[in-house]
Order: sequence, then C-alpha cells, then structure tokens
Amino acid sequence: MENNIRGGDAPIACDLEAGKNYAWCSCGHSADQPFCNGNHKKEGGTNPVIFSVEEAKEAYLCTCKQTGNPPYCDGSHKN
Ligand code: FES
Repeated sequence: MENNIRGGDAPIACDLEAGKNYAWCSCGHSADQPFCNGNHKKEGGTNPVIFSVEEAKEAYLCTCKQTGNPPYCDGSHKN
C-alpha cells in the first residue's frame, strides 16, 4: 500500500510552458507542490505523473491528490 497524503487543500495556478516536461507530485509528500521533489522515494509514495502541454497556458494543478483527472484539479478537494 502506498503511503500517499494530501499535499494541500486547494489547487495551485501554474504558468505552464509549451513542450516542457513537468513532474506532478502524486503522493502529496513533495515540499514543492504541485511538482515532485523526489520525496516519494523516501516516504514510499506513488511516482510522479510526467506531463506536458502543447500550448503555453495557466492551469490549476491539484495538490490534494484526490483528482480524477491528474494533474488537473477537478474539484475533488472539496469532498
Ligand atoms: S486540489 Fe485536488 S481536486 Fe482540487
């Protein structure tokens, strides 16, 4: 069983660059939310989700790790 936690209680607005690979923290242990800082290895959490966007945009990335549409917030943090 993975040791995942909530990394926050609300999404973070991020300016994403086109074509750049990002590592979204899926375990909640990163101190660099919403992105991975490698802490999943130490804490036994799940691996980050690598993603990129085709066009630069601002996106609200999930920190609660309950989203059904990672890395994006889908409102699940309110549950
Ligand atoms: S911050 Fe996780 S669903 Fe909104």
